[in-house]
Amino acid sequence: MVLLGDEFPNFKANTTIGEIQFHDWLDKKWAIFFSHPSDYTPVCTTELAEVVNLMPEFEKRNFKVIALSCDSVASHLGWIEDIKSYAKCYSEGFPYPIIADENRELAVQLGMIDPLEKDKDGLPLTARAVFIIDPEAKMRLSILYPATTGRNFREVLRVMDSLTLTEKYPVATPVNWKPGDNVMILPTLSEEDAPSFFANISTIALPSEKKYLRMTNCDGLVP
Ligand code: BEZ
Repeated sequence: MVLLGDEFPNFKANTTIGEIQFHDWLDKKWAIFFSHPSDYTPVCTTELAEVVNLMPEFEKRNFKVIALSCDSVASHLGWIEDIKSYAKCYSEGFPYPIIADENRELAVQLGMIDPLEKDKDGLPLTARAVFIIDPEAKMRLSILYPATTGRNFREVLRVMDSLTLTEKYPVATPVNWKPGDNVMILPTLSEEDAPSFFANISTIALPSEKKYLRMTNCDGLVP
């Protein structure tokens, strides 16, 4: 089981682009890793197709993308044609690799097995995990959905924007934040130091009279 801040395992795996060693593939970039229970399943097909269509958004943010499904490379290569068809993607090739985890070794190692959902043979399914890994190979985000719930990849893009912004500035992003919205100044930044980072600070009055709800706008903050 990998926890936030842990080094993501440097596993070796077969993928649709050949064998990879994970840290070499990562190549000191940000990455999103997302997993699937199995090939030729309806929800997974819609998710992988969505990621095909969102590739320009991942590329704009300089994020690498890798998927995992618990079937063989040969199966993935056949399934890719269905995914491309569903995505209405008519270009050559496939824009990101898919790891073959036939024996569920990575699914177990990365804590992705859901004991509550079973396949037709009664075996526990692999959940829909999303991991974000930073250029130092540290895991920075982990979300786990059951197999029966498809993910919202626009939410994943939003998190990526928050992570790269809060990495650079002493801010945190509030509820339902989206790029361009105001951000919160970290409680660890003192009242004296805050003005040297931010030109516009507004402090929200609260019954406690504590001045912890400090906002600033995103002007000049580049993720
Ligand atoms: C699906 O991708 O549709 C799916 C896979 C496993 C369990 C439930 C749904």
